[in-house]
Amino acid sequence: MSKQSRKAELETFIGKLVSAVSNAALYSPEHVQVKRLISIAYSCLDDAMDSTGEISLMIIDDELISEGSPVGNNMYLNRFAQMLKNRGIETIRIITGVTPEELLMLVKSLSMQRDRRREVRSSEHIRLGRVEVRVAGKEDNGSASKEAVSVPKLTLSDLSVHEQTKLMEIYEGVKKHNKLSVAGIYDVVSNFIDVFKQEADPFMALSDLRNADEYTFTHSTNVCILNLSQAMSMGIEGQLLHDIGISAMLHDIGKLFIPEEILSKKGQLSNSEWEQMKLHPVKGAQHLLDTPGVPRLAVAVAFEHHMRFNFEGYPKVPKGWKQNICSHITAVSDFFDAMRSRRSYRDPMEAEKIASIMHSRAGLDLNPLLVKNFFRQLDNVSTKQE
Ligand SMILES: [Fe+2]
Ligand SMILES: [Fe+2]
Repeated sequence: MSKQSRKAELETFIGKLVSAVSNAALYSPEHVQVKRLISIAYSCLDDAMDSTGEISLMIIDDELISEGSPVGNNMYLNRFAQMLKNRGIETIRIITGVTPEELLMLVKSLSMQRDRRREVRSSEHIRLGRVEVRVAGKEDNGSASKEAVSVPKLTLSDLSVHEQTKLMEIYEGVKKHNKLSVAGIYDVVSNFIDVFKQEADPFMALSDLRNADEYTFTHSTNVCILNLSQAMSMGIEGQLLHDIGISAMLHDIGKLFIPEEILSKKGQLSNSEWEQMKLHPVKGAQHLLDTPGVPRLAVAVAFEHHMRFNFEGYPKVPKGWKQNICSHITAVSDFFDAMRSRRSYRDPMEAEKIASIMHSRAGLDLNPLLVKNFFRQLDNVSTKQE
């Protein structure tokens, strides 16, 4: 078998494995779809193995390398490289004799929340490891000493693209099967928090809208980044911080139940279309309420994020209603991201113009203390960069 066709098989093998991991995270590792994907992956194995009867992969600069050259470049290969890297794994060897059960074990552990600190372990025929290099000059005298190469640091912008792909898959899952993976969302938020602790500038991580279909989840990751950054600047940490991030990720989930033509319509919505659009907070909250494992906070935020500080927004609620502070935080992030993104009907706005609009809406649409804190933070970041 030629090297080229081996690589094609390898690409299919990895693609199926990654889909199996996504499905295991979305549903469960026991799901029939996971079993199906693993058996397809397993059937490609023989042809994907090299002449020594193994698949040997290494991650260098986010790329999967096999037999000295990149395997290829597509979403699945990138995700696989990222998945391994996120767990500190830099090499993987799959050798003859590997069983479908071992593949399932690998899929299962890659689908788990990273936050649980469960390590992905090697098995008899699947060997995981860090890259080891021989220290130059010591090889000849027999005292070959080895030194681990440190795991390259994941930057916020890399992460954001990666997390969007993941969120996109989770959203697809909701659209197709009406089922939401809270574990998957938890993992995305944990990754953001981990990286935030190392890097100071969350604003750099905001992504631009690439096309209209991606709007909801690109926007949701951006709102998550902004929510976490606001919350962390207020000293919030631990479970509440996670819940605030998760709430941001899910605030617009109700849009998945609004017809596509309305969501992507260029130009003004008609009255009846607008009435339908305004249902997304209620629909989202209902869906989240029915999904096990969703923090209550996320239900409140989905319901309240368009209510506005002065209750002039929607949905309408009885007098005396108290909005959750996280809904206020989300409204600030939501407002900012909606204005800074290029939309079908207008170009993105300049930061100064956004600031002046947001300040003018403080006390009306937005919580004034949060607006103040938000821009104080933004100013800090830009002064640091100058
Ligand atoms: Fe919304
Ligand atoms: Fe939103």
